[in-house]
Amino acid sequence: MMRAMQTTTQSPVRLVLAPMQGLTDAPMRDLLTRIGGFDECVSEFVRITHTVHSRATWLRYAPEIANGNRTAAGVPCTVQLLGSDADNMARNALEAVRFGVDKIDLNFGCPAPTVNKHQGGAVLLKEPERVFHIVRTLRQALPAHIPLTGKMRLGFEDKSLALENAAAIAEGGACGLTVHARTKVEGYDPPAHWVWVRKIAGAVSIPVTANGDVFCLEDYLAIRRESGCNSVMIGRGAVMRPDLARQIKRYEAGQAAEAAPFAEVAQWIVHFFDLCVAKEAGNQYPQARLKQWLGMLRKAYPEADALFARVRTLKTADDIRRELAV
Ligand SMILES: Cc1cc2nc3c(=O)[nH]c(=O)nc-3n(C[C@H](O)[C@H](O)[C@H](O)COP(=O)(O)O)c2cc1C
Repeated sequence: MMRAMQTTTQSPVRLVLAPMQGLTDAPMRDLLTRIGGFDECVSEFVRITHTVHSRATWLRYAPEIANGNRTAAGVPCTVQLLGSDADNMARNALEAVRFGVDKIDLNFGCPAPTVNKHQGGAVLLKEPERVFHIVRTLRQALPAHIPLTGKMRLGFEDKSLALENAAAIAEGGACGLTVHARTKVEGYDPPAHWVWVRKIAGAVSIPVTANGDVFCLEDYLAIRRESGCNSVMIGRGAVMRPDLARQIKRYEAGQAAEAAPFAEVAQWIVHFFDLCVAKEAGNQYPQARLKQWLGMLRKAYPEADALFARVRTLKTADDIRRELAV
Protein backbone atom coordinates (compact mmCIF):
# COMPACT_ATOMS: atom_id res chain seq x y z
CA MET A 1 0.00 0.00 0.00
CA MET A 2 1.32 3.43 -0.92
CA ARG A 3 1.84 5.81 1.95
CA ALA A 4 0.01 9.12 2.01
CA MET A 5 2.42 11.63 0.55
CA GLN A 6 0.44 14.81 0.60
CA THR A 7 2.46 17.99 0.62
CA THR A 8 1.74 19.88 3.81
CA THR A 9 3.64 23.08 3.15
CA GLN A 10 1.86 26.25 4.24
CA SER A 11 0.91 28.04 1.07
CA PRO A 12 -1.53 30.81 0.25
CA VAL A 13 -2.32 28.84 -2.88
CA ARG A 14 -5.31 26.51 -2.97
CA LEU A 15 -5.39 23.70 -5.52
CA VAL A 16 -8.60 21.80 -6.20
CA LEU A 17 -8.91 18.55 -8.13
CA ALA A 18 -11.72 18.99 -10.66
CA PRO A 19 -14.86 16.88 -10.74
CA MET A 20 -14.72 14.81 -13.94
CA GLN A 21 -17.40 12.24 -14.54
CA GLY A 22 -15.82 8.91 -15.51
CA LEU A 23 -12.31 10.26 -14.89
CA THR A 24 -11.84 11.53 -11.34
CA ASP A 25 -13.89 8.78 -9.75
CA ALA A 26 -13.09 7.63 -6.22
CA PRO A 27 -9.99 5.54 -7.08
CA MET A 28 -8.49 8.40 -9.11
CA ARG A 29 -9.29 10.93 -6.35
CA ASP A 30 -7.69 8.57 -3.85
CA LEU A 31 -4.53 8.21 -5.94
CA LEU A 32 -4.11 11.85 -6.96
CA THR A 33 -4.68 13.21 -3.47
CA ARG A 34 -2.10 10.72 -2.11
CA ILE A 35 0.48 11.91 -4.60
CA GLY A 36 -0.06 15.32 -3.13
CA GLY A 37 -0.52 19.02 -3.72
CA PHE A 38 -4.31 19.12 -3.69
CA ASP A 39 -6.13 20.91 -0.89
CA GLU A 40 -9.55 19.71 -1.93
CA CYS A 41 -11.36 17.53 -4.43
CA VAL A 42 -14.91 17.31 -5.77
CA SER A 43 -16.98 14.22 -6.58
CA GLU A 44 -18.28 13.49 -10.06
CA PHE A 45 -21.71 15.07 -10.42
CA VAL A 46 -24.61 13.27 -8.80
CA ARG A 47 -27.57 13.78 -11.10
CA ILE A 48 -30.86 14.72 -9.44
CA THR A 49 -34.05 14.02 -11.37
CA HIS A 50 -37.33 12.99 -9.71
CA THR A 51 -36.13 10.63 -7.01
CA VAL A 52 -34.35 11.02 -3.70
CA HIS A 53 -31.12 9.05 -3.64
CA SER A 54 -30.44 6.36 -1.07
CA ARG A 55 -27.44 6.31 1.25
CA ALA A 56 -25.92 3.58 -0.92
CA THR A 57 -26.08 5.85 -3.97
CA TRP A 58 -24.36 8.75 -2.19
CA LEU A 59 -21.68 6.39 -0.96
CA ARG A 60 -21.21 4.96 -4.42
CA TYR A 61 -20.49 8.42 -5.81
CA ALA A 62 -18.47 9.54 -2.83
CA PRO A 63 -17.14 6.76 -0.62
CA GLU A 64 -15.22 9.54 1.12
CA ILE A 65 -18.46 10.24 3.05
CA ALA A 66 -17.73 7.17 5.18
CA ASN A 67 -14.28 8.59 5.92
CA GLY A 68 -15.43 11.97 7.24
CA ASN A 69 -15.69 13.36 3.69
CA ARG A 70 -11.97 12.88 3.16
CA THR A 71 -9.93 10.80 0.78
CA ALA A 72 -7.57 8.24 2.30
CA ALA A 73 -4.85 10.90 2.25
CA GLY A 74 -7.07 13.19 4.32
CA VAL A 75 -8.02 15.64 1.57
CA PRO A 76 -11.59 17.03 1.89
CA CYS A 77 -14.06 15.95 -0.77
CA THR A 78 -17.07 18.05 -1.77
CA VAL A 79 -20.12 16.35 -3.26
CA GLN A 80 -21.43 17.89 -6.47
CA LEU A 81 -25.12 17.92 -7.47
CA LEU A 82 -26.48 18.48 -10.96
CA GLY A 83 -30.12 19.15 -11.68
CA SER A 84 -32.76 21.78 -12.37
CA ASP A 85 -35.62 20.97 -9.98
CA ALA A 86 -34.61 23.19 -7.08
CA ASP A 87 -37.00 21.62 -4.57
CA ASN A 88 -35.94 18.07 -5.31
CA MET A 89 -32.29 19.11 -5.33
CA ALA A 90 -32.84 20.58 -1.86
CA ARG A 91 -34.54 17.36 -0.69
CA ASN A 92 -31.59 15.35 -1.98
CA ALA A 93 -29.05 17.74 -0.50
CA LEU A 94 -30.70 17.42 2.91
CA GLU A 95 -30.64 13.63 2.66
CA ALA A 96 -26.98 13.75 1.64
CA VAL A 97 -26.25 15.87 4.72
CA ARG A 98 -28.19 13.39 6.88
CA PHE A 99 -25.88 10.66 5.55
CA GLY A 100 -22.79 12.72 6.43
CA VAL A 101 -22.02 15.00 3.47
CA ASP A 102 -20.55 18.26 4.80
CA LYS A 103 -20.04 20.40 1.69
CA ILE A 104 -22.07 20.69 -1.50
CA ASP A 105 -21.24 22.10 -4.92
CA LEU A 106 -23.76 22.83 -7.68
CA ASN A 107 -22.99 22.15 -11.34
CA PHE A 108 -23.87 24.91 -13.81
CA GLY A 109 -21.42 23.88 -16.49
CA CYS A 110 -22.05 20.38 -17.81
CA PRO A 111 -22.22 20.51 -21.64
CA ALA A 112 -23.61 16.98 -22.19
CA PRO A 113 -26.64 17.09 -24.54
CA THR A 114 -28.66 14.58 -22.49
CA VAL A 115 -28.08 16.60 -19.33
CA ASN A 116 -28.86 19.92 -21.07
CA LYS A 117 -31.99 18.44 -22.66
CA HIS A 118 -33.31 17.87 -19.14
CA GLN A 119 -32.51 21.49 -18.21
CA GLY A 120 -29.41 20.59 -16.17
CA GLY A 121 -25.83 21.87 -16.35
CA ALA A 122 -24.72 24.64 -18.72
CA VAL A 123 -28.16 25.20 -20.28
CA LEU A 124 -29.21 26.89 -17.01
CA LEU A 125 -26.73 29.68 -17.78
CA LYS A 126 -29.25 30.98 -20.32
CA GLU A 127 -31.48 31.90 -17.37
CA PRO A 128 -29.60 33.52 -14.46
CA GLU A 129 -32.84 33.82 -12.49
CA ARG A 130 -33.17 30.03 -12.49
CA VAL A 131 -29.55 29.73 -11.37
CA PHE A 132 -30.33 32.16 -8.54
CA HIS A 133 -33.50 30.25 -7.61
CA ILE A 134 -31.64 26.91 -7.39
CA VAL A 135 -28.80 28.31 -5.29
CA ARG A 136 -31.15 30.22 -3.00
CA THR A 137 -33.49 27.24 -2.54
CA LEU A 138 -30.61 24.98 -1.53
CA ARG A 139 -29.03 27.62 0.68
CA GLN A 140 -32.29 28.16 2.53
CA ALA A 141 -32.90 24.43 2.94
CA LEU A 142 -29.42 23.48 4.15
CA PRO A 143 -28.19 23.97 7.71
CA ALA A 144 -26.11 27.16 7.96
CA HIS A 145 -22.89 25.26 8.73
CA ILE A 146 -22.94 23.33 5.42
CA PRO A 147 -20.96 25.29 2.80
CA LEU A 148 -22.62 25.56 -0.60
CA THR A 149 -20.58 26.47 -3.69
CA GLY A 150 -21.20 26.70 -7.44
CA LYS A 151 -19.28 25.86 -10.60
CA MET A 152 -20.08 27.55 -13.90
CA ARG A 153 -18.88 28.03 -17.45
CA LEU A 154 -18.80 31.54 -18.95
CA GLY A 155 -22.14 31.03 -20.64
CA PHE A 156 -24.00 28.78 -23.04
CA GLU A 157 -23.63 30.31 -26.52
CA ASP A 158 -21.75 33.47 -25.58
CA LYS A 159 -20.38 35.28 -22.54
CA SER A 160 -23.01 38.02 -22.33
CA LEU A 161 -24.56 36.62 -19.14
CA ALA A 162 -21.32 35.58 -17.42
CA LEU A 163 -21.38 38.33 -14.80
CA GLU A 164 -25.11 37.95 -14.22
CA ASN A 165 -24.77 34.21 -13.65
CA ALA A 166 -21.84 34.69 -11.30
CA ALA A 167 -23.86 37.29 -9.37
CA ALA A 168 -26.83 34.90 -9.28
CA ILE A 169 -24.66 32.23 -7.67
CA ALA A 170 -23.15 34.67 -5.17
CA GLU A 171 -26.42 36.41 -4.31
CA GLY A 172 -28.21 33.08 -4.06
CA GLY A 173 -25.96 32.43 -1.08
CA ALA A 174 -23.02 30.37 -2.36
CA CYS A 175 -19.80 30.90 -0.43
CA GLY A 176 -17.48 30.09 -3.35
CA LEU A 177 -17.53 29.94 -7.14
CA THR A 178 -15.40 28.00 -9.62
CA VAL A 179 -15.29 29.32 -13.16
CA HIS A 180 -14.35 27.07 -16.08
CA ALA A 181 -13.28 29.83 -18.45
CA ARG A 182 -15.23 28.76 -21.53
CA THR A 183 -18.78 28.80 -22.81
CA LYS A 184 -20.69 25.59 -23.43
CA VAL A 185 -20.34 25.91 -27.21
CA GLU A 186 -16.57 26.37 -26.84
CA GLY A 187 -16.53 22.84 -25.43
CA TYR A 188 -12.90 22.13 -24.61
CA ASP A 189 -11.40 24.11 -27.51
CA PRO A 190 -8.37 26.15 -26.48
CA PRO A 191 -7.90 28.80 -25.32
CA ALA A 192 -9.57 29.09 -21.94
CA HIS A 193 -10.43 32.76 -21.36
CA TRP A 194 -8.71 33.30 -18.03
CA VAL A 195 -9.17 37.09 -18.09
CA TRP A 196 -12.91 36.47 -17.81
CA VAL A 197 -12.29 34.84 -14.45
CA ARG A 198 -10.62 38.08 -13.35
CA LYS A 199 -13.70 40.06 -14.46
CA ILE A 200 -15.97 37.73 -12.53
CA ALA A 201 -13.78 37.71 -9.43
CA GLY A 202 -13.82 41.50 -9.49
CA ALA A 203 -17.60 41.58 -9.71
CA VAL A 204 -18.61 39.17 -6.94
CA SER A 205 -17.81 39.25 -3.26
CA ILE A 206 -17.18 35.51 -2.79
CA PRO A 207 -13.86 33.70 -3.41
CA VAL A 208 -13.42 32.57 -7.02
CA THR A 209 -11.46 29.55 -8.23
CA ALA A 210 -10.02 29.71 -11.75
CA ASN A 211 -10.28 26.64 -13.97
CA GLY A 212 -9.40 25.54 -17.49
CA ASP A 213 -6.36 24.29 -19.40
CA VAL A 214 -3.73 24.00 -16.67
CA PHE A 215 -1.52 21.23 -18.04
CA CYS A 216 1.89 22.28 -16.70
CA LEU A 217 3.58 24.65 -14.25
CA GLU A 218 3.76 27.42 -16.87
CA ASP A 219 -0.02 27.18 -17.42
CA TYR A 220 -0.52 27.43 -13.69
CA LEU A 221 1.60 30.58 -13.51
CA ALA A 222 -0.33 32.03 -16.46
CA ILE A 223 -3.79 31.30 -15.02
CA ARG A 224 -2.74 32.87 -11.71
CA ARG A 225 -1.43 35.94 -13.51
CA GLU A 226 -4.37 36.38 -15.88
CA SER A 227 -7.19 35.51 -13.49
CA GLY A 228 -5.67 37.11 -10.39
CA CYS A 229 -6.99 34.11 -8.38
CA ASN A 230 -4.92 32.19 -5.85
CA SER A 231 -7.32 29.27 -5.99
CA VAL A 232 -6.96 27.06 -9.06
CA MET A 233 -8.85 23.93 -10.11
CA ILE A 234 -7.05 21.36 -12.25
CA GLY A 235 -8.77 18.57 -14.17
CA ARG A 236 -7.32 16.81 -17.21
CA GLY A 237 -3.81 18.11 -16.51
CA ALA A 238 -3.81 16.29 -13.17
CA VAL A 239 -4.78 13.02 -14.82
CA MET A 240 -2.11 13.36 -17.52
CA ARG A 241 0.56 14.52 -15.05
CA PRO A 242 -0.45 12.95 -11.73
CA ASP A 243 2.14 14.95 -9.79
CA LEU A 244 1.28 18.33 -11.33
CA ALA A 245 -0.30 19.66 -8.13
CA ARG A 246 2.69 18.42 -6.13
CA GLN A 247 5.06 20.15 -8.56
CA ILE A 248 3.11 23.39 -8.19
CA LYS A 249 3.15 23.25 -4.40
CA ARG A 250 6.87 22.49 -4.42
CA TYR A 251 7.48 25.39 -6.76
CA GLU A 252 5.45 27.67 -4.48
CA ALA A 253 7.54 26.48 -1.51
CA GLY A 254 10.75 27.37 -3.37
CA GLN A 255 11.70 23.71 -3.83
CA ALA A 256 12.79 21.83 -6.94
CA ALA A 257 9.68 21.07 -8.97
CA GLU A 258 10.76 18.42 -11.48
CA ALA A 259 8.20 16.03 -12.89
CA ALA A 260 8.18 12.52 -11.45
CA PRO A 261 10.20 9.99 -13.47
CA PHE A 262 8.21 7.24 -15.16
CA ALA A 263 9.50 4.68 -12.64
CA GLU A 264 7.47 6.50 -9.97
CA VAL A 265 4.47 6.86 -12.28
CA ALA A 266 4.63 3.10 -12.93
CA GLN A 267 4.08 2.48 -9.21
CA TRP A 268 1.06 4.78 -9.28
CA ILE A 269 -0.33 2.85 -12.24
CA VAL A 270 -0.13 -0.44 -10.33
CA HIS A 271 -1.66 1.17 -7.27
CA PHE A 272 -4.50 2.69 -9.30
CA PHE A 273 -5.29 -0.67 -10.86
CA ASP A 274 -5.43 -2.23 -7.38
CA LEU A 275 -7.82 0.52 -6.22
CA CYS A 276 -10.07 -0.11 -9.24
CA VAL A 277 -10.10 -3.87 -8.61
CA ALA A 278 -10.93 -3.22 -4.96
CA LYS A 279 -13.86 -1.04 -6.07
CA GLU A 280 -15.31 -3.36 -8.71
CA ALA A 281 -13.81 -6.75 -9.47
CA GLY A 282 -15.55 -9.24 -11.74
CA ASN A 283 -16.30 -6.89 -14.61
CA GLN A 284 -14.34 -4.81 -17.12
CA TYR A 285 -14.30 -1.64 -14.97
CA PRO A 286 -10.66 -1.93 -13.74
CA GLN A 287 -9.36 -2.82 -17.20
CA ALA A 288 -11.33 -0.04 -18.90
CA ARG A 289 -10.25 2.59 -16.36
CA LEU A 290 -6.59 1.57 -16.63
CA LYS A 291 -6.61 1.70 -20.42
CA GLN A 292 -8.40 5.06 -20.36
CA TRP A 293 -5.80 6.46 -17.98
CA LEU A 294 -2.85 5.11 -19.96
CA GLY A 295 -4.40 6.70 -23.03
CA MET A 296 -4.14 10.07 -21.25
CA LEU A 297 -0.80 9.48 -19.54
CA ARG A 298 0.89 8.75 -22.85
CA LYS A 299 0.46 12.41 -23.80
CA ALA A 300 2.99 13.24 -21.08
CA TYR A 301 4.98 9.99 -20.88
CA PRO A 302 6.11 8.04 -23.98
CA GLU A 303 6.66 5.01 -21.71
CA ALA A 304 2.92 4.97 -20.99
CA ASP A 305 2.34 4.69 -24.74
CA ALA A 306 4.39 1.48 -24.87
CA LEU A 307 2.54 0.09 -21.85
CA PHE A 308 -0.80 1.04 -23.41
CA ALA A 309 0.15 -0.91 -26.56
CA ARG A 310 0.96 -3.97 -24.42
CA VAL A 311 -2.28 -3.99 -22.39
CA ARG A 312 -4.67 -2.70 -25.07
CA THR A 313 -6.03 -6.09 -26.09
CA LEU A 314 -5.83 -7.78 -22.67
CA LYS A 315 -9.17 -8.65 -21.11
CA THR A 316 -8.59 -10.06 -17.64
CA ALA A 317 -7.27 -8.39 -14.52
CA ASP A 318 -4.69 -11.17 -14.08
CA ASP A 319 -3.29 -10.67 -17.57
CA ILE A 320 -3.04 -6.94 -16.97
CA ARG A 321 -1.35 -7.42 -13.60
CA ARG A 322 1.24 -9.70 -15.21
CA GLU A 323 1.97 -7.04 -17.82
CA LEU A 324 2.20 -4.26 -15.21
CA ALA A 325 4.72 -6.35 -13.28
CA VAL A 326 7.11 -6.58 -16.25
C1 LIG B 1 -14.45 13.74 -18.88
C2 LIG B 1 -14.86 14.99 -18.14
C3 LIG B 1 -15.87 14.91 -17.21
C4 LIG B 1 -16.27 16.07 -16.50
N1 LIG B 1 -17.22 15.96 -15.52
C5 LIG B 1 -17.54 17.06 -14.77
C6 LIG B 1 -18.43 16.96 -13.65
O1 LIG B 1 -18.90 15.88 -13.27
N2 LIG B 1 -18.73 18.11 -12.98
C7 LIG B 1 -18.19 19.33 -13.33
O2 LIG B 1 -18.49 20.35 -12.70
N3 LIG B 1 -17.32 19.43 -14.35
C8 LIG B 1 -16.98 18.34 -15.06
N4 LIG B 1 -16.04 18.45 -16.05
C9 LIG B 1 -15.36 19.74 -16.27
C10 LIG B 1 -14.08 19.83 -15.41
O3 LIG B 1 -14.39 19.85 -14.04
C11 LIG B 1 -13.26 21.10 -15.76
O4 LIG B 1 -14.08 22.21 -15.53
C12 LIG B 1 -12.79 21.10 -17.20
O5 LIG B 1 -12.25 19.84 -17.57
C13 LIG B 1 -11.75 22.18 -17.45
O6 LIG B 1 -10.63 21.98 -16.60
P1 LIG B 1 -9.26 21.28 -17.13
O7 LIG B 1 -8.86 22.02 -18.39
O8 LIG B 1 -8.29 21.47 -16.00
O9 LIG B 1 -9.58 19.85 -17.44
C14 LIG B 1 -15.64 17.32 -16.77
C15 LIG B 1 -14.62 17.37 -17.72
C16 LIG B 1 -14.22 16.23 -18.40
C17 LIG B 1 -13.10 16.33 -19.41
